[in-house]
Amino acid sequence: MTLKLNDSYLSRFVSPEDYRGIAPEIVAAHDKLVKRNGAGSDFLGWVNLPERYDKEEAARIVKAAEKIRKSCDVFVAIGIGGSYLGARAAIDFCKGVHYNDLRQGTPAIYFAGNDISASNLSELLRLCQDKDVCINVISKSGTTTEPAIAFRLFRALLEKKYGEKAAAERIFVTTDKARGKLKELADAKGYETFVVPDDVGGRFSVLTPVGLLPIAVAGIDIYDMLQGAATAKNAYGSCDLEKNDAYKYAAIRNILLRKGKTVELFASYENSLSMTAEWWKQLYGESEGKEGKGLFPASATFTTDLHSLGQFIQQGSQVLFETVLDLQKASDALAIPSDETNGDGLNYLAGKDLHFVNRTAFAATALAHTDGNVPNVVLELEKRGAYEFGYLVYFFELACAISGYILGVNPFDQPGVEDYKKNMYALLGKPGEEHEKRRIELAKKR
Ligand code: PA5
Repeated sequence: MTLKLNDSYLSRFVSPEDYRGIAPEIVAAHDKLVKRNGAGSDFLGWVNLPERYDKEEAARIVKAAEKIRKSCDVFVAIGIGGSYLGARAAIDFCKGVHYNDLRQGTPAIYFAGNDISASNLSELLRLCQDKDVCINVISKSGTTTEPAIAFRLFRALLEKKYGEKAAAERIFVTTDKARGKLKELADAKGYETFVVPDDVGGRFSVLTPVGLLPIAVAGIDIYDMLQGAATAKNAYGSCDLEKNDAYKYAAIRNILLRKGKTVELFASYENSLSMTAEWWKQLYGESEGKEGKGLFPASATFTTDLHSLGQFIQQGSQVLFETVLDLQKASDALAIPSDETNGDGLNYLAGKDLHFVNRTAFAATALAHTDGNVPNVVLELEKRGAYEFGYLVYFFELACAISGYILGVNPFDQPGVEDYKKNMYALLGKPGEEHEKRRIELAKKR
């Protein structure tokens, strides 16, 4: 099984009555989703995406990825939030965190436009000076400041390096099909464009061209990924919590929140899953954190963070529960060697595979944390691959929608993010009546 919810560490915290109590809310949330009459129902494009994606565009993505692979050493994906995290998570998940050093026949992949650090961007631009470069700017709105700035700088670099016409062959744009400055610019310059569907919000967009082009450039099979998502879609149709782990996960989150567990710590024992945690944090944080509600989504990578956060988790304020992504099969076998002198005293582990030790660390930690009053929701993931990533994405997206509806929020908007963007436009002096008005309001507060 690709993914299985193991609730054996939860029995002290979630009772059969709790499940029975929340079951009608699950049914109501499910109804909203399938009848498309809940809040934010204009943004349900992700629901059928794994089966109803644009086939012609997917083929174009594969072709563009081939062209990119042939023509560059470095590929820079420019985007922020939902236009960044999914692709980065997928590449780490499928290829590992050392992809750039271990890749074979595919370009190094860097991510830009996800901050405003002058050093970060300058270093990346320097790194690209002597390399052949292609870029993909990704912005649904086409107006977000961070990627817009990075794109301007990278476009200038490419135009200087190759001339305007040849640079245009190396610039790929993923944005709205008709609206926005980025679309206008792409059309004027003749860049190849890919579409962010109207009905798919940023954090639900990894299986659209937003994520799929960078993922394909890394040599990952996007069709396998979409197939994984399609399989998950078919697996999670029932409202019976015993038959639907996605709904059960949504139920457990809300049950624990109501019992005072206000922080959900997403933990894994693989650093290749750390960016998946970042993607998950955005998905749940932006979908549920509104109207004074929601679980705070945090993350940790063990065993590394057991030596920093472990103390707090075990004995600190009792607001946490953990969702552990427990990888069953490692991508690599690595046996611990025997040592004649046994100077380090490790021979009791000689011949044991490192993944066995890692999984034992998980079992030991889950028992300890549960004793420390930290409930553990365990999601057993069979292995790391494109199919599994697609499956996992769909699982979390579906659970997020159901969980958000149970919580009583619109899981598909992000008014808080818009607030910061608007404030920044105003403070930076962006022209326009709306920005001027806000500038005056903010001046009164400063
Ligand atoms: O999930 C979201 O909607 C946001 O995180 C956006 O993805 C993010 O703000 C970037 O927006 P855009 O793609 O319009 O540049």
